[in-house]
Amino acid sequence: MDLWSIILTIWYILPAYFANMAPVVFGGGSPIDKGRNWIDGKRVLGDHKTFRGLISGIVVGSVIGLIQLRPIQGVLLSTGAMTGDLVGSFIKRRLDIPPGGNAILLDHEGFLVFSILFCFWYDPLSAEQIIFLIIITPILYEMTNFIARKLNLK
Ligand code: CTP
Ligand code: MG
Repeated sequence: MDLWSIILTIWYILPAYFANMAPVVFGGGSPIDKGRNWIDGKRVLGDHKTFRGLISGIVVGSVIGLIQLRPIQGVLLSTGAMTGDLVGSFIKRRLDIPPGGNAILLDHEGFLVFSILFCFWYDPLSAEQIIFLIIITPILYEMTNFIARKLNLK
C-alpha cells in the first residue's frame, strides 16, 4: 500500500473516528435503554450509552463529512459507527462486562466494522484498505485514549 492510498483511507474513515470520540465530550444524561433489562435480567445497553452521546456522534461525524465534501459518507459512516458502538455495548452486557470495562475486539473494531458496512454500498473500500483500517484502528484508539488520560490527569 503506498502512502497516498494510506492517506486516502484515513481520510475516508475520519467521520467514523470523530463520531466515536464525540460522545466522550458531549455524552451523558438519560440512557438509551431507559434503565431497562434484557430478557437475561441484565441491562440492555447500560448507563454509558446515552441519547446525547448517540446524537452528538452522528452530528459531529456528519459535520466532518460536510467539511470533507463527502456528506453522504459522513452520515453513513457516523450512523454506522454509533450503531456498532451500541451493538458492542449490547454484547458486553450479555458477557457481564460492566459499562466502561474493556472488551478488546468490541471496543476497537465494533464501530469500525459497522461504519464500513453502512458506507460500503455507496462508496466501497478495497480489501486491502479494510485490512489496513482493522490493523491501524486499535493502535490509533489506544494512542488517543492514552493522550486523553494524560490530559485529564494534569
Ligand atoms: N457515551 C455516551 N453515549 C453513547 C456512547 C458513549 O454518552 N451513545 C459516553 C459515555 O460517557 C461513555 C463514553 O462516552 O462512558 C465512552 O464511550 P464508550 O467507550 O463507547 O463506552 P463505555 O464507557 O466503554 O461503555 P460500554 O461498556 O457500554 O461500551
Ligand atoms: Mg469504552
